[in-house]
Amino acid sequence: MPDTCGSSLLQTSIGPLQLQNPVLSASGTYGSGWEARDFSPLSRVGALVSKTVTVKPRHGNPPPRIAETPSGMLNSIGLENKGADYFLAETLPRMKTLCPRVVINIGGEAVDEFVELAERFCKAGVDALEVNLSCPNVQEGRLLFSTDARMCERAVAAVKRVANVPVFAKLSPNVTDIVSIAKGAEQGGADGITAINTLIGMAVDWRKRKPILGRGIGGLSGPAIKPVALRMVHEISRAVRIPVIGVGGARTAEDVLEFVCAGASAVEVGTAAFVDPAVLVGVVEDLARLLAGANTSIAELRGSLAAPIAAQAGHATAQAACPAPQRGAEGAASR
Ligand SMILES: Cc1cc2nc3c(=O)[nH]c(=O)nc-3n(C[C@H](O)[C@H](O)[C@H](O)COP(=O)(O)O)c2cc1C
Repeated sequence: MPDTCGSSLLQTSIGPLQLQNPVLSASGTYGSGWEARDFSPLSRVGALVSKTVTVKPRHGNPPPRIAETPSGMLNSIGLENKGADYFLAETLPRMKTLCPRVVINIGGEAVDEFVELAERFCKAGVDALEVNLSCPNVQEGRLLFSTDARMCERAVAAVKRVANVPVFAKLSPNVTDIVSIAKGAEQGGADGITAINTLIGMAVDWRKRKPILGRGIGGLSGPAIKPVALRMVHEISRAVRIPVIGVGGARTAEDVLEFVCAGASAVEVGTAAFVDPAVLVGVVEDLARLLAGANTSIAELRGSLAAPIAAQAGHATAQAACPAPQRGAEGAASR
């Protein structure tokens, strides 16, 4: 099989980080890649992204922690991991043998924790940091960093002050206005935005009158969230100057190209890897074929999506694009 994974059609960069192709693993869905190493040659993917690492080990949420949904899955893992000491000693050296680019996703409950992790991982030699902002800030009433533009900016700025590698801010879709949060991250000096993390949902066992997940709620991922992710990637990429990494429901090379067209410089593949652990390398190979067939490249396709009619007319939101309600419609709806 020819090695098409480094074809110039596929090359991309996320700010200063050059990649042989735009396909990355999504945090938390592929472990460190180690368990999947026999399924496909992971040296062919753009980068491996680690599960979120925290300073101290975390046990995560009570089981059950996974529920299947018609077009995706709900998870409430709760950032279970063995902590930074273990990761640095055992996991990082293995990851580095698998792929030429390694991105470490860090999580913390205070800015100081993000800073400590950034310092330690930069010292250990990684290619980039992805800051998981879907973490509660204990100094601000456990509000998630990703739900407030100022908190997001401060966390990113603190990481940037100590990091000597590109820093990507991973955002939550569970906000009213993701663009304002992305702008906060850009203001804090982020080199890129990763969008999106999972959408909060729940699954119910009506016979037991109980939620299926032990925590009650969890994060929805997989094909069900792709349209939301595409919309958010598009909106963010039009509003900030830094690159965007798309994530949410991508399974195929076609999906990756849709994200690139919408403005992404790279795309992470997550839930799809539970179905097929070799999916990442398969997507890279299909990408090369599709791009050659269409006589285009990632660089040329990126952000090429024609502006929708509503945006051209200056209406930013989907609601604004809806026809105005007819007289009396509000009354009918409230009955
Ligand atoms: C089981 C599971 C665990 C996850 N763990 C993390 C995590 O540790 N850190 C993180 O930033 N995102 C985590 N995510 C979110 C994914 O990285 C990704 O943003 C999300 O699943 C959407 O992509 P997908 O639809 O391709 O899976 C997790 C997702 C799943 C399904």
